[in-house]
Amino acid sequence: MLTNKVAIVTGGARGIGAGIARVMSAQGARVALLDLDGVEAEKTAAGLPTPGIALACDVAAEADVARALAAAVERLGGLDVVVNNAGAGRGPFNASAAPSSAGGGPMDTLSAARWDEALAQNLRTTFLMTKAALPHLQARGGGAIVNIASIAGLVASPRLPAYAAAKAGVISLTKSLALEYARHDIRVNAICPGYLWTRAWDGLATAMKMTVPGYAGMEPRDIFLDAVKRGVPLGREQTPEDIGQLAAFLASDAARNITGQWIAVDGGITLRQSP
Ligand SMILES: NC(=O)c1ccc[n+]([C@@H]2O[C@H](COP(=O)([O-])OP(=O)(O)OC[C@H]3O[C@@H](n4cnc5c(N)ncnc54)[C@H](O)[C@@H]3O)[C@@H](O)[C@H]2O)c1
Repeated sequence: MLTNKVAIVTGGARGIGAGIARVMSAQGARVALLDLDGVEAEKTAAGLPTPGIALACDVAAEADVARALAAAVERLGGLDVVVNNAGAGRGPFNASAAPSSAGGGPMDTLSAARWDEALAQNLRTTFLMTKAALPHLQARGGGAIVNIASIAGLVASPRLPAYAAAKAGVISLTKSLALEYARHDIRVNAICPGYLWTRAWDGLATAMKMTVPGYAGMEPRDIFLDAVKRGVPLGREQTPEDIGQLAAFLASDAARNITGQWIAVDGGITLRQSP
């Protein structure tokens, strides 16, 4: 579905971004992986079925975005698709380290600095890359932007209010840009992933282990599986490839009349039963 398309995937070194890159590449796209972790991004790019490239880049930093975007466009010969996936995943993620501040943490311990970091990592990243990429998509006569938001942007998230506000902001930005750029045939949609066992959830489960008494004796992976068992109606975790399949569809011409939408890939987590 994506033959001859050039795509940028931010945060593409691992986790959901790597899954999106693998699916898009398998469908013929040439993918540029932009990630803070250039070494891991190189390894992921080397495994892609259609040859891609890796560029070290902090997508929360404007000059870095401009530099990496120019390099990607030059090396791949244009730009058709942008996947704004980078977010939440910055900081140490193992049981012996402090949890990342990228999600902010609950309100009672949320400082202004952590609030700013959560918004920078999860909303500013999407703004900066989108703003820089739009002229390149316009130069092609159209294109697609896929924003990776979260179910946290749709429902209450008392553990991570700053992260949730940032992701709700991503959904809002998706709608505004979809309307503004429809006349340029640039479509903008968002995906709200549910529960995926990536480094980000490892960090969250580690924080839960330290703060929720019932989880104190459990491994982070088991805390995650408990959340899946109790919270997912379909009873299984979601995978990076699940997100990749929808991202590839939204990026393709098969979705040519879909814009300004947000879709949860969450096994039904956000469904609510009426009394
Ligand atoms: N894992 C989940 O359950 C889940 C659920 C909903 C939404 N999400 C969202 O999916 C996206 C990917 O999350 P993940 O679980 O794959 O996380 P992850 O930590 O496994 O991977 C994130 C990747 O993004 C990169 N990254 C982070 N900040 C960056 C920056 N400023 N510039 C460049 N690269 C950066 C990291 O280096 C890492 O390689 C995030 O936006 C996250 O909020 C994840």
